[in-house]
Amino acid sequence: MPETATLFERSAEIRARNPLFGPNRLKLGVFGLNSIGCALTLVPEAYRPSWAGSLAAAQAADEAGFEAIVPYARWKSYVKGNVHHRSSQVMECFSWATAVAARTERAAIFATCHVPAMHPIVAAKQGATIDQISGGRFGLNVVAGWYAGELGMFGVDLLDHADRYAQAAEWTEILRRAWSEEEEFDFEGRFYDVRGAYFEPRPAQAPAPPIMNAGGSERGREFAARFSDLAFVMFESSEPEAMAASIESARALARERHGRELQIWTPAYVVQADSDEAAAAYVAHYGAECGDYEAADAFIEGMIETSSNLPPEVLRALRLRIVEGGGGYPLVGTAETIAARMEELSRCGLDGLLLSWIEYEPGIRRFAREVSPLLAERGLRR
Ligand SMILES: Cc1cc2nc3c(=O)[nH]c(=O)nc-3n(C[C@H](O)[C@H](O)[C@H](O)COP(=O)(O)O)c2cc1C
Repeated sequence: MPETATLFERSAEIRARNPLFGPNRLKLGVFGLNSIGCALTLVPEAYRPSWAGSLAAAQAADEAGFEAIVPYARWKSYVKGNVHHRSSQVMECFSWATAVAARTERAAIFATCHVPAMHPIVAAKQGATIDQISGGRFGLNVVAGWYAGELGMFGVDLLDHADRYAQAAEWTEILRRAWSEEEEFDFEGRFYDVRGAYFEPRPAQAPAPPIMNAGGSERGREFAARFSDLAFVMFESSEPEAMAASIESARALARERHGRELQIWTPAYVVQADSDEAAAAYVAHYGAECGDYEAADAFIEGMIETSSNLPPEVLRALRLRIVEGGGGYPLVGTAETIAARMEELSRCGLDGLLLSWIEYEPGIRRFAREVSPLLAERGLRR
């Protein structure tokens, strides 16, 4: 342990109090408040990022008892040839997370970090600082990157898929050691040469804040199994047996290959209305009718070029769902319908849902009023 007395807190109990490790059977997070959210739509009410609007929505999620607030990392528009596209509007994750941490009480606050865009010691030190500011509520979403255009701004190339995850493995090992070891350490690898790494304050959570990763390819899933506390599945089918099998396979990979227990989450979009028909009609309006297909196609082609996550034909078939909610799982209908779908996902073994809305703050508040009590009745959440 460090010899000097410090006013900074650090303990395993603080980590155990992180709501991500709390008792709710189905955990909830809100995704994408630092940018344009997840739907790719041109309707005028679509979420546009501002500090005030994102804070109001983050506070609504915090008050509603959500476990996590997760921004996404993007450095510029991914629509090639259109730098002014709305997807360019992204508040930087660590600075946004710091401010949100200071203005919320309960939820875990994540930053998302592109491995090639930041040295792991910088990410570790920033994360440790946010962990202190938030009283042990920080978490990091580690992403290997997929859009070469944004990485060019750093003068780095997008590595081929295997090397991207080889670099991410070194990066995350350094991050984890920088957070958890109590003495200086050296690391020499293919991508990093780290000498005498140690800093204070340490993170409040001991041994380390939680790590999230949403890699979907075999390599990405292997990386998540090895390093993360939260991993993601994307469902190709909404049949319960198929969803349960995909959740179990992500869990089994971590357990059998690495002796680790993971939470398995999926991204989902919420469209709540007074009737199932009204909710479906609104999705058809902002999605099929007013979708931002320029952005959806740029996203799909970018993924096909650089990731081996889903086969091209599967990705193209997901075009409408990408428009409607970034490819997430649809939670569309009345409060009753949404609660029933969530119960089904929980029965399939899912631990958490990372949610998005078209209009976040009113959407979260309505969800808290009408869906949360139904989830409590079903024993999914307190
Ligand atoms: C919930 C979720 C969050 C993600 N967040 C980001 C992000 O903030 N920035 C980014 O570049 N990629 C993000 N991704 C993309 C993944 O990190 C990953 O690159 C993608 O799923 C392709 O998988 P692969 O890397 O295993 O090929 C996210 C994916 C999901 C499902």
